[in-house]
Amino acid sequence: MPVAITLDHLAALPVDPAEGTLVAQAVRAGRLADDAPGLDEALADLAGFEGKVNQLLVAATDAGTRLLVGVGEDPDPASFRKIGAAVAKRAATQDALVADLVGHLDGAERTAAIEALVQGLILGTYRFGTYKAAPESTKLTAIHVVAKGGARAAAAVDRGIAVATAMVLVRDLVNTPGGDLTPKAFAAEATRVATEAGLEIEVLDKAAIRKAKLGGLLGVNRGSAQEPRFVKLTHRPEGKPRGSVALVGKGVTFDAGGLSIKTATGMEWMKTDMAGAATVLGAMSLVPALAPKVQVTAYLPLTDNMLGPDATRVGDVLTARNGTTIEVLNTDAEGRLILADALSLAVEDEPDAIIDLATLTGAVIVALGERTAGVMTNHDGLKQRVLDAADDAGEAMWPLPLPEHLRKGLDSEVADLRNIGAGPYGGALTAGLFLREFVGDVPWVPLDIAGPADTTAAWDENARGGAGFAVRTLVGLLAAWSKLPAA
Ligand code: BES
Ligand code: MN
Ligand code: ZN
Repeated sequence: MPVAITLDHLAALPVDPAEGTLVAQAVRAGRLADDAPGLDEALADLAGFEGKVNQLLVAATDAGTRLLVGVGEDPDPASFRKIGAAVAKRAATQDALVADLVGHLDGAERTAAIEALVQGLILGTYRFGTYKAAPESTKLTAIHVVAKGGARAAAAVDRGIAVATAMVLVRDLVNTPGGDLTPKAFAAEATRVATEAGLEIEVLDKAAIRKAKLGGLLGVNRGSAQEPRFVKLTHRPEGKPRGSVALVGKGVTFDAGGLSIKTATGMEWMKTDMAGAATVLGAMSLVPALAPKVQVTAYLPLTDNMLGPDATRVGDVLTARNGTTIEVLNTDAEGRLILADALSLAVEDEPDAIIDLATLTGAVIVALGERTAGVMTNHDGLKQRVLDAADDAGEAMWPLPLPEHLRKGLDSEVADLRNIGAGPYGGALTAGLFLREFVGDVPWVPLDIAGPADTTAAWDENARGGAGFAVRTLVGLLAAWSKLPAA
């Protein structure tokens, strides 16, 4: 059952909370006596509680029994996301939680902290329970967030709930096995989301994909018993749009590698290979409410990458939507093949900018680790905007170059391009260079989210499995959208 999160004014804080209600209260580092009067300092000392970020202690205070929550000396608003997660986890055996945690903050800091806190409260208790006979779930049915700030605070709570709900959608999609979340099932889910959010949607089935000449998508799909789909979603602003942005997401519902088959362990996480498409869908679900003034179009190519009897052979040549021919020398470099078509379609619609998201390469994880996305570009101004939005969103992204000398490694003897580079190094960059061939001179930023799209061991507000990474960055970027400067 979803937890109801409401906002209480400070005055509404229950003086004597009902049984089963845990009251969580912020304690700043170095202010134990001020923030929790009556706290036995010797006990706090013994428990090692100093008010550092995310330290928790249940203790008696003058106000009664409290969950004391360390918030550090001068916490930045983003740390309330992990604070919220820790508090919600600690309160999971309670009926209700009162979260009185942002009282020491003011203005924009407080609003940002409330939004992050609410996200943390929701994301911290996320469990993927679909396939469990007895899903472990929180007992909490109500969370009261205590904060000053009237309508602004209330709006921050609402935004926090909306964004976290979209991230939960992404997590659920990423965690659903490839045998169940087929391209067709993904498209059905996209249709549901579009209807609910008020987005236009167009779904191409296999015949329509053939007609549209999406040769990359068809080539990757060739070894599968599951039909591909191509989903296009559009948000059209009511007045004159402030600009138009295309979002493209890799939707490989399971990546076995094709004939260039992966190893058994290499396949373990490959149900998550549609995280780019899921992230774009999650962000799109928020656009009408949170970024209404910009026209946003999503392009989602959906297929799995299997080894059926007529699978694409190594050496086969595919013709992408824009006419470029591609010699497939490794069928496991399939993300770029379906993105080639999707990027071509995006370019035809002449957007001001294209952002693509993909679990594109293992190499980016080698380069940046599991928590950081790689950011490339053909337009430094757009790249900087994306990096700034990521920073504001508390999502780790880092720039990678597109070195020109690697481009010739993509030259093919028989076609216009080959789908892998010449040597063993710089795999994330060759993938970026390959995609660049399909965007023309439209400002473009590809995000390789192969690392952070899923979490291999839980940390902060992230449970093992799908993370919902980059939803916040995209929404922040779109909400603040304005005309790009010339490159
Ligand atoms: N989906 C994978 C990339 C990936 C690997 C994502 C590990 C998450 C974790 C992608 O389709 C792939 O297989 N890429 C190959 C490219 C290579 C064949 C040029 C890779 O990274 O090994
Ligand atoms: Mn692959
Ligand atoms: Zn893949």
